[in-house]
Amino acid sequence: MSDEMKQERREELVDPIEEVPGYSETESRIGIWGHPLHAMSVSFPIALTFCALGADGLYWLSGETFWALAAIWAAGTAFLFGLLAGVTGFAEMLLVSGIRMRAQVWTHFIIAVFLLSMLGANWGYRLDGWETAVLPYGILLSGFNVCLVIATGWHGGALVFSHRLGTSKGN
Ligand code: HEM
Repeated sequence: MSDEMKQERREELVDPIEEVPGYSETESRIGIWGHPLHAMSVSFPIALTFCALGADGLYWLSGETFWALAAIWAAGTAFLFGLLAGVTGFAEMLLVSGIRMRAQVWTHFIIAVFLLSMLGANWGYRLDGWETAVLPYGILLSGFNVCLVIATGWHGGALVFSHRLGTSKGN
């Protein structure tokens, strides 16, 4: 195939979504003085999800009631802060046209909603008996949630660092 033909073929393969007005509008709108709220709020559920697994592990090793209580608090606050992070991300997705248009953001949304439901399950399951819930299902749920939060956070990071979504274009 000649270079000319290759060039023509490349031109034919332009993604029509890129032609839609508003495609390049990707700056964060949900923030305080230009600081994006979603990026600020995601650290809390991520850290607390890890804390829940840590507390479960320490309960398993030591048998100390304190760690089972710490685990239910970590699981509950991971869920509540996760909801808060979800609201800020969802608002960003709905309000910014260039973000809303990209399929990768909808993938992130689906993984995140699954994560939020599992964070809620990990907390709700413990409400009936926070100490007996830890072994074995509480710790298994916490381990699964750590894997999910890594996937969600990694994917969210790719939205920012690879696709440059939710960033500022500067002055
Ligand atoms: C309804 C659910 C969610 C939606 C619609 C959503 C949407 C988004 C969007 C659009 C971005 C790109 C940056 C921006 O525009 O702010 C992003 C980034 C990100 N998301 Fe989410 N998100 C959701 C929930 C979550 C949750 C629950 C987590 C983790 C606990 C998470 C972790 C991240 C991370 C780590 C980034 C990269 C932030 C940065 O480094 O600046 N997201 N998300």
